[in-house]
Amino acid sequence: MQALTDPTYRKLTTLMYDTIGLSLGDSKKPLVSSRLSQRIQRLGMDGFEDYFALIAGPADGGEFQMAIDLLTTNETYFFREPAHYQLIEQELARSKPRSLAVWSAASSFGDEAYSTAMLLADLQQQGRIGPDWRILGTDISDRVLRSAGEAVYPEDRLRNVSPERLKRYCLRGDGSAEGLVQIQDKLRDRVSFGQLNLCQPIEGLGPFDIVFLRNVLIYFDAPTKSAVVDRVLGQLRPGGLFFIGTAEGRVPCSVALQTVGPGAFRKPLGT
Ligand SMILES: C[S@@+](CC[C@H](N)C(=O)[O-])C[C@H]1O[C@@H](n2cnc3c(N)ncnc32)[C@H](O)[C@@H]1O
Repeated sequence: MQALTDPTYRKLTTLMYDTIGLSLGDSKKPLVSSRLSQRIQRLGMDGFEDYFALIAGPADGGEFQMAIDLLTTNETYFFREPAHYQLIEQELARSKPRSLAVWSAASSFGDEAYSTAMLLADLQQQGRIGPDWRILGTDISDRVLRSAGEAVYPEDRLRNVSPERLKRYCLRGDGSAEGLVQIQDKLRDRVSFGQLNLCQPIEGLGPFDIVFLRNVLIYFDAPTKSAVVDRVLGQLRPGGLFFIGTAEGRVPCSVALQTVGPGAFRKPLGT
C-alpha cells in the first residue's frame, strides 16, 4: 500500500478538524497512518487518497464514523474519578433537589451516565433526592451510543462498583454471556442517549443541573476547547456543577467558574 503523503495527511486532518474539532498535528502522522492503514487494507482499497475520498464523500456508508472511532479513544469505566461522585453526593445532601437533570456530554459507552444513575437511584431510595431525575448521554460516535443503549459491559469495567450496587442494579451473564454484566431496566429507564457533536451549535437541550465534559477536551486545540466549554456551559443552569477530567488542566472559557475540587466547578449564580 502507498505511504500516507503530506498533502493527503493535510486533507484528512483538515476534514477531522472542521467536522469534529479533532486537532492532529504533524507529530500524529505515524499514528494516523498506522490506525487507518489496517482499515484501508481490510476494505481492499488502494491507499489513503481513495480512503479520504470515501469518508469525505456523500456516500461514505458509515465509514466517516469508523474513521472517527479509529482516531479517537473511547476509553471509559464506571465511577472513573470517584471524588466527582462524592462531591455530587455531598452537594445533593445539602440541596435536596426535587428534580435533577444530568448530562454526560461525551458519554462514550455510557459508563459515566450509568454510574451517575446508580448514585442517584441510591439517593432517591434514601429519600435524599426527589423521584424526578433523568440523565442524558451524548457522543459523536454512533457505535458507542448503540452499545450504551444496550448497557452490556465486561465485568472489569465495573471494577469500581460496590458489591451492593452490583447486586442492586446489574445482572450477571452466564453461559455465552459469562464475564458480562447488564444494567437493569430500572436504571436504563432513567438514561437516554443521543448523537451530538460538541463542535456544532447546541440548541434545546438544557438546562442541566450537572454536566460532565470529561476526557474529551484533550482532542481539541485551545480555541476549540474554549468554544466547546462555552457552548456546553450554556446548557448548565447557574449554580450547577461542571466536571472535566482532572488531568485536563485549566478550563478556558468566558464564564468565571468557581473551583470546587480537582476538575470540578460551579457556574456562578447570575451568569
Ligand atoms: C475518552 S472518551 C470519554 C468518556 C467519559 N466522558 C469518561 O471520561 O470516561 C471521549 C469521547 O469523546 C467523544 N468525542 C470526541 N470528539 C467529540 C465531539 N466533537 N463531539 C462529541 N463527542 C466527541 C469520543 O467519541 C469518545 O467517546
